[in-house]
Order: sequence, then C-alpha cells, then structure tokens
Amino acid sequence: MAKLKILTDGDTALRLKSRPVSVVNDRIRTLLDDMTETMRSADGCGLAAPQVGVLRRVVVMETEPGTVLELINPVIVERKGEQHEIEGCLSVPGRQGYTHRPAYVKVEALDRNGDPITLEGEGLRARCFCHEIDHLDGILYIDHAEMVDEK
Ligand code: NI
Repeated sequence: MAKLKILTDGDTALRLKSRPVSVVNDRIRTLLDDMTETMRSADGCGLAAPQVGVLRRVVVMETEPGTVLELINPVIVERKGEQHEIEGCLSVPGRQGYTHRPAYVKVEALDRNGDPITLEGEGLRARCFCHEIDHLDGILYIDHAEMVDEK
C-alpha cells in the first residue's frame, strides 16, 4: 500500500466530475487500498478518489473504527429525514461547518469484486455517504455549509 497526497481546496481536480469505473480490476483494488491507508494516516473518516487526483467514482469510508467501506460507482437511492451537524474535510484542513443532510440514506455501489452492494447509514455514516459522493461531482461541503471558523 502507498500513502497518496491529498489535494486541498483550490486544486481544480476537486471541482471536476469523476468518471464511473467500467471494470473493477487490480488497478482499482490498489487504488482502494492506497486510499484507505491515506485516509487512516490523515485521521479521516472518508476519502473520495478525486481528493487524491484520480477522477474516478471510488470512495472509502471508516465511520466506525475498524470497519472500512469501499464504494465503487456509489449512488444514493433513498433519503429520509434531515440532520444539521458539523462537518469537515481532509481537503479543507482546519475548517468546519454545519450542513443540512438527510438523516438516513441508502446507497447502491459495487464492491472490490465488482459485485453490487446496498448500504444504509444514519447519523455520521449518512453524512459521510453524502459528503463523499458529492466529491465525485466536484462539490465540496463548504459550498453549502455555514462555516463556524470564520469570525
Ligand atoms: Ni471531503
């Protein structure tokens, strides 16, 4: 595994739309492994491929320590309720803000073998699904957050 460089706000790659993965091969599995190592070493709970300069629809998450979720071509297929909580991003270091997110989301994706999976989340996990999938469309949470660190 290799630790990758995390791009920060201002880098144009963070603002581009990522392409779907057509074939889940060893290159994608290596990307997943490298992204997990990068996320963990940065103490993050989620990382999307464009944050490491790879414009493909790939996400890793670890909202419950020890449980890594790997998502390829993730799509939110259901949303319920609302939450207003604080969020941060490894690509926007040192800042935090409140966002409006669904309280619950259901996500469909492919796993590292290319098999379809369905995942659900509430609370932090729901926020993280939304935040990471937004990255795949070039959206940063600061675009719609009420920032708390600017006085
Ligand atoms: Ni982020």
